[in-house]
Amino acid sequence: MRGIAITAPERPDAARSVARVIACALWGLETALVTVEVDVANGLPAFVVVGLPDKAIQESRERVRAAIRNSGFEFPLRRVTVNLAPAERKKEGTGFDLAIALGILCASGQLKAKPDAVCVGEVALDGALRSVRGVMPRVRHAAARGVSDAIVAHANAGEAAACGVSAFAFGSLREVVEHLEGRIRVPPASIPERAAVSTVAVDLAEIAGQETPKRALEIAAAGGHNVLFVGPPGTGKTMLARALPSLLPPLEDDEAIAASVVHSVAGLVDPRHPVLATRPFRAPHHTASHLALVGGGSPPRPGEVSLAHCGALFLDEIAEFAPAVLDTLREPLEERSITISRAGGAATYPARFLLVAAMNPCPCGHWGDAGAECRCLPETVERYRGRLSGPLLDRIDLRVHVPRVPYERLREQSRESSAIVRARVIAARERMRTRFGVSSRGNADLTVSELGRFCRIDPETEQLLAEAVRGRRLSVRGYHRVLRVARTIADLAGNDDLRSEDVALALLLRSDP
Ligand SMILES: Nc1ncnc2c1ncn2[C@@H]1O[C@H](COP(=O)(O)OP(=O)(O)O)[C@@H](O)[C@H]1O
Ligand SMILES: [Mg+2]
Repeated sequence: MRGIAITAPERPDAARSVARVIACALWGLETALVTVEVDVANGLPAFVVVGLPDKAIQESRERVRAAIRNSGFEFPLRRVTVNLAPAERKKEGTGFDLAIALGILCASGQLKAKPDAVCVGEVALDGALRSVRGVMPRVRHAAARGVSDAIVAHANAGEAAACGVSAFAFGSLREVVEHLEGRIRVPPASIPERAAVSTVAVDLAEIAGQETPKRALEIAAAGGHNVLFVGPPGTGKTMLARALPSLLPPLEDDEAIAASVVHSVAGLVDPRHPVLATRPFRAPHHTASHLALVGGGSPPRPGEVSLAHCGALFLDEIAEFAPAVLDTLREPLEERSITISRAGGAATYPARFLLVAAMNPCPCGHWGDAGAECRCLPETVERYRGRLSGPLLDRIDLRVHVPRVPYERLREQSRESSAIVRARVIAARERMRTRFGVSSRGNADLTVSELGRFCRIDPETEQLLAEAVRGRRLSVRGYHRVLRVARTIADLAGNDDLRSEDVALALLLRSDP
């Protein structure tokens, strides 16, 4: 059953008629079509909503009642029953307002048309139509089930049009009715262009010296390895991290949709360019709350870890984040998604991001700095480092010292630009795509059994690793991580087998902060 259909009256006096309007529910990123059934019956005036609505939907009664009146229609002085079917699951948010209002107008005979559309929007008391979060996943869901049209608010037009439907956008309930009755002609919204590729924040060529950290950044971008920069203040750690987007491989179409859907649910879509063109780069401040970082709330919203899906999450001054907040990163780093449990059931958001982090080695920042004296007590240094828990540090394949740059290097010219490095990253990524058969996996995701298959090493290299493990510089996990990083280094060089220098570099890029 699609669109609005007025069923045959049950009784000849036509005292009641049921209207049906298609809407879509959203839980996390999960979606389901909902039929808003409206029955207007004789009896004492009443307005009830059933079918497990949340508080926002209960409140929609007041909004819808006022919006109908203020749009020049009459709110039926009869018994109005709204059912959100299927009724067994809790529905959330204000996105059902429009469907409820249209259903009431239809059931009371004030709207004489059948839209073949999924209707998603909030109404204001004055009858204006307001945008809501999560239009993209809802309209995509409806489109996949054969619904060909969508009716939304203006600010949601681009999002809906990007989903492969004819999207009709309006500023008020009145306009929607006039359109449905054919009294005004509104063309479907045009399919929005992908955002122009944003200008690069920092190009690698701007960064003097720091060859090893730059190499680490290249490896991180190619293989999807998390990276931590540790060094005194003013050595370019923040700059290095900000250069990461200029090295990342292009966003694939399916990734662009996946990332854009998360932004849609968070209400962070650029209406003109709802589909992302570049990988997201999120840089929350260290005062960010747990909620902001991993998401939550009611209705739940995705946090920074999910907004960084398919892109990078930059945690500058990572040791300054609250330890409890950092702890919550373990789940997304391991599972590539985050599940937020709540009263109405759990919401799961994707969270496959590259973590790039930076920190000072100690509170004053000069521990191990050749250019300045550290004023921190040894135990203070220890405590500062301890802020990054073992399990979190364990997920960071690359830990790189960023030293002070000597004067001579500051003036050096002819540094490699991001474009040159990115070309190597893309070529390496192509090798991984052949290896894994999918574009979303990098070497950072190699399983232990795959390591055996894809990381062949010669006896000399074996020896190098054996020494590192025996010398207790490496745990078993660390050993696997070194192999993964070495695999990426070999891919960047275009080699099938790991050479000893690949493994040596991987070991070097794993120094403890
Ligand atoms: N290696 C470098 N090459 C060029 N400029 C640098 C370098 N290191 C630092 N700078 C300059 O110093 C400023 C501070 O660098 P920043 O990346 O914020 O350092 P950090 O994060 O390590 O404290 C930068 O904006 C840049 O102008
Ligand atoms: Mg900094």
